[in-house]
Amino acid sequence: MNGNDAARVESAAWRADGRGASVDAREAVLHLRDVALAYEDVKGEPVLALKGVDLTVRDNEFLVVLGPSGCGKSTLLKVMVGLLRPSEGRVLHRGAEVRDTLQDVGMVYQNPLLLPWRSVLDNVLLPVEILRWDRRQYEPIARRILDTVGLTGFVDKMPRQLSGGMQQRVGICRALITDPSLLLMDEPFAALDALTRDEMARELAHLWERRKKTVVFVTHSIPEAVLLADRILVMSPRPGRIDRVIDIDLPRPRANGRKLGAAFEDYVDSIRDIIFSFKDA
Ligand SMILES: Nc1ncnc2c1ncn2[C@@H]1O[C@H](COP(=O)(O)OP(=O)(O)O)[C@@H](O)[C@H]1O
Ligand SMILES: [Mg+2]
Repeated sequence: MNGNDAARVESAAWRADGRGASVDAREAVLHLRDVALAYEDVKGEPVLALKGVDLTVRDNEFLVVLGPSGCGKSTLLKVMVGLLRPSEGRVLHRGAEVRDTLQDVGMVYQNPLLLPWRSVLDNVLLPVEILRWDRRQYEPIARRILDTVGLTGFVDKMPRQLSGGMQQRVGICRALITDPSLLLMDEPFAALDALTRDEMARELAHLWERRKKTVVFVTHSIPEAVLLADRILVMSPRPGRIDRVIDIDLPRPRANGRKLGAAFEDYVDSIRDIIFSFKDA
């Protein structure tokens, strides 16, 4: 059975019980089906971080995962890319079961973890070296990506000579250098001050609008989520479940200072109500 056959069988199986019927497994980048993930605490007792997660990530969408601290957002990302195996349920990447860590993925974390002894350019080119690709070929690409995030004059600087926001930009460039088809970002702007954070979110929206790829972006900032997302997954507190999925039907580009006005505020308000309702429950 080749990959396509496997995908067809798989999607037929999805249809058979009526769930996931609207999306063919081959069109989806990722399919999570009834996924649960339990960690063990220090005494070896199971700690349920995710339960009953059904989710489809679509090609080239900007999907934002929003939820309170500790609800399992980071765990969800790790399960998606095969860094963690689900305790129950299945994870499919383009119709095939995820058994190992996915290769074609860029990851961005809260802290960019740059190597302090390498220049900005050399940090961005690190994945290329690890993969033993041709560095000479990628150097102009690295410079171009650094250009797009406003770091043209900083390629030869060392990380300590950069502000936190600039370092985070370098981390994003490093994730983009291999042009992965899937970009996972786990609270990438959480460590930045509010103004820089706002600017970074707009820059990311701009970058994505020009060159679409599938992004799964974790945040607990509601306005950031609404600014960036095609769809927002709202997760409920532990054990993390997907409480609901909200389509954000706002015009793009959203980054160019276009006033999104009342519709934007309405989304923010209604999502805030949902999240506050968890606290009352
Ligand atoms: N390695 C681990 N061992 C045990 N418990 C963990 C581990 N990682 C996370 N957890 C627990 O799982 C839950 C979800 O964690 P996490 O996915 O990091 O949440 P979030 O990213 O939404 O803040 C939390 O209660 C956390 O304490
Ligand atoms: Mg987290």
